[in-house]
Amino acid sequence: MAAMHDGLGVARARVHLGRMSKTDRALEALLSRASCDDLVDPAPDGAMLETILSAGLRAPDHGKLRPWRYVVIEGEHRAAFADLVLKGMRARDPDVPQKKLEKRRKRFGETPMTIALGMHLRPDNKIPLAEQEAAVSAGVMNVLNALHLAGFGGLWVTGDVADDPGVCEALGFAPPHRLAGFLFVGTPEETPRSKRADIEDYMAVWKGKPVRFGADKD
Ligand SMILES: Cc1cc2nc3c(=O)[nH]c(=O)nc-3n(C[C@H](O)[C@H](O)[C@H](O)COP(=O)(O)O)c2cc1C
Repeated sequence: MAAMHDGLGVARARVHLGRMSKTDRALEALLSRASCDDLVDPAPDGAMLETILSAGLRAPDHGKLRPWRYVVIEGEHRAAFADLVLKGMRARDPDVPQKKLEKRRKRFGETPMTIALGMHLRPDNKIPLAEQEAAVSAGVMNVLNALHLAGFGGLWVTGDVADDPGVCEALGFAPPHRLAGFLFVGTPEETPRSKRADIEDYMAVWKGKPVRFGADKD
């Protein structure tokens, strides 16, 4: 781990020298990923979309249950899906503010692409449900990284919409299958940046005694 931390510094130095190796470039790309909410056209399509979603299917998957299911919502179908989202919001709260409704309509109706993150779960399987869900989450992370590497952007959201039975059923996920949320997808309007924590606070080398992390200081 220490070597990787050092390696990033080396990679940064090499950018200036214009001598980045393939590995340095790959690590730089991975470490520069950030979620993005301000997404415009284009979203990936065709073979590129399939490649990006294939990255999701490279996630670790205990028992080879392949629980990942991706539903792409785009083009004219976005408006109908936004209608469903708003219908659920009104059902949950008849007094939901108009402003909140309009915000959701804009997000689901105007973002270039939404990918519903389905989880095809098998409650009776010997692989615990938490591990089946972890495989889906690992897949989502791969998709987010693939989007970034291909020059696109994404944001993973959950919230009450992801648990809405009407929305889940309309997408094809009746219980026990569920949604792990939605990915909003498109091209970032500006290069997204997120504040990142320092790895030194989140790693430790075990030397026979319980470890303490800088991140957990009170
Ligand atoms: C399972 C999961 C659910 C999330 N749900 C939401 C959400 O509903 N709304 C939201 O604004 N961010 C949500 N986030 C956080 C964003 O996806 C994102 O990680 C966050 O904005 C930080 O940006 P970063 O990915 O660049 O660090 C969720 C993240 C995860 C892992």
